Amino acid sequence: MADADPGTARRYHDGYDREAVLRVYDGMAADYAVKYGAELREPDSDTEFLDAALAELPAGPVLDVGCGPAQVSRYLLEHGRAAIGIDLAPGMLAAAARLVPSARLVAADLLALPLRPASCAGAVASYSLHHLPRGRLGAALAGLREALRPGGVLVVITHGGDGEEWLDRVEGKVVLSRYSPAGLASLLGASGLVPELVSTRPPRPGEYPAEKVRISARRA
Ligand SMILES: C[S@@+](CC[C@H](N)C(=O)[O-])C[C@H]1O[C@@H](n2cnc3c(N)ncnc32)[C@H](O)[C@@H]1O
Repeated sequence: MADADPGTARRYHDGYDREAVLRVYDGMAADYAVKYGAELREPDSDTEFLDAALAELPAGPVLDVGCGPAQVSRYLLEHGRAAIGIDLAPGMLAAAARLVPSARLVAADLLALPLRPASCAGAVASYSLHHLPRGRLGAALAGLREALRPGGVLVVITHGGDGEEWLDRVEGKVVLSRYSPAGLASLLGASGLVPELVSTRPPRPGEYPAEKVRISARRA
């Protein structure tokens, strides 16, 4: 892990600026909730993937990692699962609380999960891990694996492709990292999870224009 850059309080040598990510999502929370908040309400290929990936889980709550407006938490609650949504951005957590009043929501960084080891049945990271530089994904996956019970499942849904795109926003620099299905499977394997299901779909109108990758992996 890179050391903190002494020149800027929370920016790191790999360029990661967590506070910039927080500011970006705080600023867009209301619009994001309008645009994407109703996702997963109706059956589609994303819900089909979640249904299959989360069919067999140990007891316990499922984490909604970088929950945004908590579409995943709502899906989990409607499927009889306890859910815990975590997010950096207070504006996103406020939108989540409004849209999914029964959601359990926590302000937290996915790189420093405030959870006991082996306390979760599963975790779903839907479009949140791409905001880490690629070099930090291993640490994130290791932390998520640590939170899972044996037999627990991690689902990652993200933008397909390769490399890092750095977006220069007024809030600061924010990265968009992309992964191939095989690359993600290999990183999940390296973090001690056993890949199970993988599928892709084309982007829908209004989505970031990259193939979407969905992958699940289980803690042995
Ligand atoms: C593109 S939105 C995805 C929201 C929702 N999961 C979805 O599928 O639409 C990314 C979310 O991840 C959150 N996020 C990004 N980095 C994070 C981190 N390090 N820890 C916790 N949340 C993070 C952002 O605040 C934002 O709400």
